[in-house]
Amino acid sequence: MAHEVVVVGSVNADLVVRVDRRPGPGETVLGSDLATLPGGKGANQAVAAGRLGGRVGIVARTGDDGHGALLRDALGAAGVDVSRLLVAEGPSGVALITVGPDGDNSIIVSPGANARLTEQDVAAAREVIEGAAVVSLQLEIPLPTVVRAARTAADAGARVVLNLSPAAPVPPELLALCDPLVVNEHEAAFLLPDHAASDDPAALAAALLELGPTSVVITLGADGALVATRDGARSVPSPKVEPVDTTGAGDAFTAALCLRLARGDGLEAAARFAVRVGAAAVLGEGAQSSYPAEGDDLPS
Ligand code: RIB
Ligand code: NA
Repeated sequence: MAHEVVVVGSVNADLVVRVDRRPGPGETVLGSDLATLPGGKGANQAVAAGRLGGRVGIVARTGDDGHGALLRDALGAAGVDVSRLLVAEGPSGVALITVGPDGDNSIIVSPGANARLTEQDVAAAREVIEGAAVVSLQLEIPLPTVVRAARTAADAGARVVLNLSPAAPVPPELLALCDPLVVNEHEAAFLLPDHAASDDPAALAAALLELGPTSVVITLGADGALVATRDGARSVPSPKVEPVDTTGAGDAFTAALCLRLARGDGLEAAARFAVRVGAAAVLGEGAQSSYPAEGDDLPS
């Protein structure tokens, strides 16, 4: 059966250390023991949607190193179709992550094999992309690959969801294909140089819609999300939780949103579910390691 969600995106090994504070230039601090966890914004989304019971596929590349096997296994264990998970010579993507005392994170990504996911790979996976209800994209793979995937999906009538993370300039053509464009406040401000991240989210959303997407979702962390179309904006509050580790919570949110959209929910209803999945994801260490499974109780 065709997939509900197909992710075209990144897979990374997350090398995570907890710290009391981050070192400045020239400084050394001691942290916790190292945890090596499966991550990457694309794989995180695929795993999150798979755990929630979705029929999910991924188009991505690992390296031919030891991390590659860990990353493939994590996807497989979540029921994700890995038939389009390719291998490139050299290192897998790696994310160097520090988690602070409040569960906040800072991340440096070394793209590795993700940089070798090409437009040709998208063309070769065309059937899978065209058969999806929703195709989910992020920006940890080369931009031409993202654009090609969005075009392929849209031409076939699949719904394109883009999470503009990490923030980078993208062509207007790509924004115009998004339904929705998913951003946090910083990514929104990045696209809108005349606005500040602190601006009213409804104003940010209205300005984003002028860039061409059919709909916009602005994630607001503990404050939930704002969903907007040309017919208006609605805020969706988040359940209140004590964060342990926020890494990958945005990916869980986007995955849950994509899955519900694939199943026919409207944007607001999908976002109401997604904020609960995102809240669940901040309650545990790591990204994928904290994602809820279908049937789990979610914060409300
Ligand atoms: O969004 C969280 C993810 O960002 C981490 O899993 C890390 O791999 C980076 O890609
Ligand atoms: Na987490």
